[in-house]
Amino acid sequence: MLQVITSISDIKNKIQTLKQNQLTIGFVPTMGALHEGHLSLVRQAKKENDQVFVSIFINPLQFGKNEDFRQYPRVFDKDCELLSSEGVDIVFNPIPAEMYPDDFCTSVIPRHLEDKLCGKSRPGHFRGVAVVVLKLFNLVKPDIAYFGQKDFQQTVVIKRIVSDLNLDVNIKILPTIRDNEGLALSSRNAYLNETEKKDALCLYSSLVKAQSMVNAGIKKAEEILLEMEKVINNCKTARIDYISIVNPETLAAVPRVRKGDVVALAVRIGKTRLIDNVIL
Ligand code: PAF
Repeated sequence: MLQVITSISDIKNKIQTLKQNQLTIGFVPTMGALHEGHLSLVRQAKKENDQVFVSIFINPLQFGKNEDFRQYPRVFDKDCELLSSEGVDIVFNPIPAEMYPDDFCTSVIPRHLEDKLCGKSRPGHFRGVAVVVLKLFNLVKPDIAYFGQKDFQQTVVIKRIVSDLNLDVNIKILPTIRDNEGLALSSRNAYLNETEKKDALCLYSSLVKAQSMVNAGIKKAEEILLEMEKVINNCKTARIDYISIVNPETLAAVPRVRKGDVVALAVRIGKTRLIDNVIL
């Protein structure tokens, strides 16, 4: 049965018992408003571990002043129903004061990675992600932690933290889950009205265009990006934040595409900022 834990002392006690019994722990960190993307991570975690933990914590440190921290969908009971039907063991759902007491003052700064791609228009975002993920890893002590490819830059930051700080956790990145038409599933899709949902398909169409150009032997990043821009600019409500083809580890923009490079983009559809990417 799904157990909800809200305090740090309870989660520590629980983990200690599991470790004493040599049970493996799979961990899926989330901010709730769960969808099939999250559930695909949970299902993989179930296959590969004795116990599955999911955290639901809307981390205030990763939201900018004018971002959607307050509006972010909060549907805890529905999330728990979903997790319960997937056979998840524990949900860790602390309140912000539990994670960040008044005297909290430590930062984790993913230098060189935090100011690229999404970091340009979301200053501080990846520091917020880095510190909360490090705290969650320290509390849950997972054997394997699961993240979605959709948040590509986040996965790069997390893998770097694990490597730089010698953390004993295996990171697994699973493919982006899309709806029938190609829209990447995201909790923020809930902000889109029906027209915007259709418009949002331009993100995926532009990625498909990039992939087909690469398949046709085109290597020049500039040429590909130009065609992608055309696809997106065809849609009236879309405003490009960035489109870039980058090295998958350094996030540096590449002039010529090599196998494994990632084309990533952020586009505003009305007021909603969406991200997506594909590995070329
Ligand atoms: O991807 C998310 O939902 C969040 O960024 C994460 C990893 C749970 C950290 O708050």
